[in-house]
Amino acid sequence: MKKLMHNKKKTAVITGASEGIGAALVNELLQSNYKVIALSRNLKKLSKLKSFNSKYKNDLIVFSVDVTNSSQLLSVAKEINSPDLLILNAGIYEPVIIENFSVKTFIKQSEINYLGVIKSFDAFIKKMLLSNSGTVLIMSSIAGWIGLPKASAYAPTKSALKLFAQSIRYDLAKYNITVKLCSPGFVNTKAVKVNDFRMPGLIEPNVAAKIILKNINSKKFEITFPWFFSTVMKFLTYLPDNLSYKFIKYVTLNEK
Ligand SMILES: NC(=O)c1ccc[n+]([C@@H]2O[C@H](COP(=O)([O-])OP(=O)(O)OC[C@H]3O[C@@H](n4cnc5c(N)ncnc54)[C@H](OP(=O)(O)O)[C@@H]3O)[C@@H](O)[C@H]2O)c1
Repeated sequence: MKKLMHNKKKTAVITGASEGIGAALVNELLQSNYKVIALSRNLKKLSKLKSFNSKYKNDLIVFSVDVTNSSQLLSVAKEINSPDLLILNAGIYEPVIIENFSVKTFIKQSEINYLGVIKSFDAFIKKMLLSNSGTVLIMSSIAGWIGLPKASAYAPTKSALKLFAQSIRYDLAKYNITVKLCSPGFVNTKAVKVNDFRMPGLIEPNVAAKIILKNINSKKFEITFPWFFSTVMKFLTYLPDNLSYKFIKYVTLNEK
């Protein structure tokens, strides 16, 4: 660990790193000359990340951390230097089936997707404030822009993250810390396997990771992709509610 921290490369911390977009970001970050602290719960999956990136084995450290557990997050934060890049990516998606409506689904997604980000932010931001530098990237979703079928538990967590990022951005500006919001469309990961509908513009996690890293130093606050799907969805948010409602209802009508 000490060796890794003395290594001159920039430090990236990423939550939800064991698979999907997070794992793809770890690969991209290592190839882009970062040393990476990769966090998620499943150590077995995280170890695969290490063997997959054996070429960069001295630049990658993995920790089993649950983002709902502040003390686990704080114990990692204590051991490392201030992150140059903090990617708050951990999240889950569970659709709401109205006939099986359960408050538990809402609590679980709120605790991981929203409060998990806040707890992770809390653990790492203090050192970033002291170092007066860095970038925080918050993983939201296009699903946070407008209400969609079956997304009543997931979408509000992503919407809340958008407002969190927009607000904290002002507070961090005086510390020279940049805040970025990432709002992907559909990415082909385990999370979307539950979807029984067509996913327009579906892209692979490595493509998503490349787009994110390419834009990490851009002036844009929000990184959103793929282009066509995100433009259509953005347009829907500008329409009067009765039009966007009818359009989304029509398009999703024949889906199960
Ligand atoms: N896929 C999409 O279409 C899409 C679109 C927009 C936004 N997103 C967002 O992108 C992020 C990554 O999603 P993904 O599609 O890559 O999902 P994924 O393949 O299911 O990966 C989710 C990651 O989060 C980790 N995780 C889940 N709960 C955790 C917890 N309590 N503590 C720590 N880590 C936890 C998982 O690892 P462990 O199981 O090892 O903990 C895993 O590494 C999520 O925030 C998701 O909402 C995804």
